[in-house]
Amino acid sequence: MTQKVDVLLGLQWGDEGKGKIIDVLTPNYDIVARFQGGPNAGHTLEFNNIKVVLHQVPSGIFHPSIANVIGNGVVLDPVKFKNEILMLEKYIPIQELKKRIIISNEAHLILPIHIWLDKFNEEKKGVSKIGSTLCGIGPCYTDKASRSGIRVGEIFESNFEIKFEKLIVNHKIGIDHENQLFFRTIERFKDEIEEFHESIKFLKMFSILDTPTFLNNARKNGKKILAEGAQGTSLDINFGDYPFVTSSTTVSAGVCSGLGVPPQAIGEVFGLVKAYSTRVGSGPFPTEQENQIGEKLRQKGGEFGATTGRARRCGWLDLPQINRAIMLNGVTQLIISKVDVLTKFGEINVLIKYDNNKDLVYKKFPSWECIIKDNTFSEELFKYLNFIQIKTNVPISYISTGPNRSDIINMETFGWLFKKPVCNSGRFFL
Ligand code: GDP
Ligand code: IMO
Ligand code: MG
Repeated sequence: MTQKVDVLLGLQWGDEGKGKIIDVLTPNYDIVARFQGGPNAGHTLEFNNIKVVLHQVPSGIFHPSIANVIGNGVVLDPVKFKNEILMLEKYIPIQELKKRIIISNEAHLILPIHIWLDKFNEEKKGVSKIGSTLCGIGPCYTDKASRSGIRVGEIFESNFEIKFEKLIVNHKIGIDHENQLFFRTIERFKDEIEEFHESIKFLKMFSILDTPTFLNNARKNGKKILAEGAQGTSLDINFGDYPFVTSSTTVSAGVCSGLGVPPQAIGEVFGLVKAYSTRVGSGPFPTEQENQIGEKLRQKGGEFGATTGRARRCGWLDLPQINRAIMLNGVTQLIISKVDVLTKFGEINVLIKYDNNKDLVYKKFPSWECIIKDNTFSEELFKYLNFIQIKTNVPISYISTGPNRSDIINMETFGWLFKKPVCNSGRFFL
């Protein structure tokens, strides 16, 4: 039977714990596929005393017999890819990695010029900078949209190096008008360019193919696919807090264009929500707590960027944000992460609405002493989770209670509590 493609993505500003949950769900699938973004992502996996942060390699990589696809919607940095593979070789033999990873020939390449441009653009913006991870994401997607980018499949063409240099020259012309100095010093970047060409040789050792055909044939042959989102819904290029966004489609619609699967193929959409909110980089954050509470969330939650190490901004859960994300993504199941961070936290707040379109209205909850005792949910945690479920009208299927692969509760095992809701005038029956 032809299989659907399930999707897991973040409903906030990224760092919801996607890597961990993908790793947990992977045994239910045959293929894990990234459909957008690039090395700006930092997805953390923890198990058996191993802690790994993945940037470009999909988070199913630690499971044998699973194909990990880097889809056409991704922007791939070959230098960072090589480094990531060398890091993974500590745990997985290279021959095995080569078997497990498949790269789209239509994914776009992040070149050194894109990284320089990212830095240059951010510097130019001054105080209104986006807070980019400076991985070259924006400039690479810009080249893709303006039809001057270079795709992975082109590394096998004899004129690849000519195209590479032409792109630098074209950007140089554009930039020289504004900042002569920046590119006059291009010689300084010679080492980076050499490193880039070395990494291209490395990339050629991997399977580079027409991934839409691969994925759709796999579906027809009964293989199950899990699409792995990067970033989060509020960072989406269309629906995020523009211009404080990333440059890709992070919502479920991006799965079709980023993997080459039709809309009817989309199955379950798992919306991952951190039990509170964090944001790294600039932009609006209505529930931000720039005070002791924010600091407590940061320390208890270890809220420091997996890619840049930057301290994440922290605040309360924002239900209007989550409900908009549910609408945009067609979320069918919620997963709540980092529930443990709010254990013994003291009073917890949740933003439930805006009065007069601007005044934040919070609901207060007591925190819980423990998550489960005697096979029963703590009453306070039950109330918190159930409130989210009622206010979103989407069932919670898992909660994550720690960074480790084993720190997960499948809510089906508490079916009496969180089974598919009985609807009562559009709301859950309690
Ligand atoms: P991602 O980008 O969505 O994959 O998330 P990150 O890896 O950037 O950030 C999530 C951080 O929280 C990582 O350090 C994870 O190891 C950690 N983490 C994930 N789930 C949980 C959880 O349920 N509880 C706690 N305490 N930490 C978690
Ligand atoms: P994961 O997949 C959190 C943020 C940056 C910046 C904005 C634009 O780990 O959840 P970019 O480098 O894309 O030009 O940055 O988006 N950002 C992320 N924030 N998690 C991420 O990925 C992010 N990727 C980008 O901080 O505000
Ligand atoms: Mg992250």
